[in-house]
Amino acid sequence: MNTILSNKLFEKARTFFPGGVNSPVRAFKSVGGNPLFMAKGEGALLTDEDGNTFIDYCCSWGPLILGHANHHVVKAIADTAANGTSFGAPTKLENQLAELILSNHSRIEKMRFVSSGTEAVMSAIRLARGFTGKDKVIKFEGCYHGHVDSLLVKAGSGLATLGTSSSAGIPEAYAKETIVLPLHDKAALDEALSTYKNQIAVIIIEPIPANNGLLLQEGEFLRYLREVCTKEGILLMFDEVISGFRVGFEGAAGYYDITPDLFSFGKIIGGGMPVGAYAARAEIMNHVAPEGPVYQAGTLSGNPVAMAAGFAQLTECLRPGFYEELKEKTDYLVNNVMTRLQSKNLPFHMFSVGSIFWVSFSDKKSIHRSDEIDAVGMSKFSPFHKHLLERGIYLGPSGYEVGFVSAAHTTQHLDATIDAMVSGVCEIYGA
Ligand SMILES: Cc1ncc(COP(=O)(O)O)c(C=O)c1O
Repeated sequence: MNTILSNKLFEKARTFFPGGVNSPVRAFKSVGGNPLFMAKGEGALLTDEDGNTFIDYCCSWGPLILGHANHHVVKAIADTAANGTSFGAPTKLENQLAELILSNHSRIEKMRFVSSGTEAVMSAIRLARGFTGKDKVIKFEGCYHGHVDSLLVKAGSGLATLGTSSSAGIPEAYAKETIVLPLHDKAALDEALSTYKNQIAVIIIEPIPANNGLLLQEGEFLRYLREVCTKEGILLMFDEVISGFRVGFEGAAGYYDITPDLFSFGKIIGGGMPVGAYAARAEIMNHVAPEGPVYQAGTLSGNPVAMAAGFAQLTECLRPGFYEELKEKTDYLVNNVMTRLQSKNLPFHMFSVGSIFWVSFSDKKSIHRSDEIDAVGMSKFSPFHKHLLERGIYLGPSGYEVGFVSAAHTTQHLDATIDAMVSGVCEIYGA
């Protein structure tokens, strides 16, 4: 594969940006080599600056549920931008997108648009604290919630301990407001709830944890969270930045039929433009400024171009059968890869939910927690990624990342991917 132009661009980018990228997940650190610089996306396909074309399962890390440059989305962006890109005053496009969402998502009554998933989570945590008058937050190891200071925290030693920061630049005092627990562990949760009784504002979880592999939770654990939050006067927050509008219009809340108190959204909601949102029942949202005392603002919040893109994309998602079709495609990919590898008995498994999938180089058929991921197996991802790239298949450059199937993927794309994945796994294990 010719990567001359990408390599040249990367060399230049390294002089401008730390590590040559504007978001660390774009670097190829964990798979080796340099990132590819993309020139064009069309449907399920991505083309880089050297002219290599790939079937894309990164989909910009999830937002592009319709694929690249969907004509409805592109037209909405172009038409709206022609009338101006930002006014710093309300537009009817904000109402339109909110109405579309709120009238089709039965678990929320009011929302606030922001410009990223991180901003949505950060603002929702502030709201939870303002609403409850309590400070501490419980989060789970293996869930990512954006680069919010108090959430870039990992577990200390012991089960129900206060967190320690997982990034330089975060005061320990912030980390100490966060309790980090293992996923899927009721006993650890009970211990934390009794240790920090009446101090916890919110329990935040990715209900479909998809940032550290795909750590599918049993509904029973999520229902237990709902139960204890109600009992203890703690808000339950689902961070649906990935799962929202992805596994169904009502995201993981609809999938598991659980209604949390607070939601954060991002990615799909903006049709590929920078949008996030947080949402809840009106009683909670009315605590946000200017109606309530919890301050939160944004120059580009509810940006008209982004609202139009989100509206166009979510309108397509509401087409009858949309999510069923996406799931069928994903099941086709996963089931065919697994069936073709079955007789070889190799330590490999594909996990999936809706149109999210993850490849795991281990025998385990269920993985609920990050410490159950086999670190040695993970080293196989790097040659797998390379094998796929060389065959025109693009996955995010880390084995801990999930893949996304879009509405633009065809059976032909999936068949080519199945062949490449099967041959990749066989090559890695010499089978
Ligand atoms: C679950 C979850 N929450 C929050 C975020 C942060 O979103 P953003 O990258 O838009 O700030 C992400 C990003 O991947 C995410 O996956």
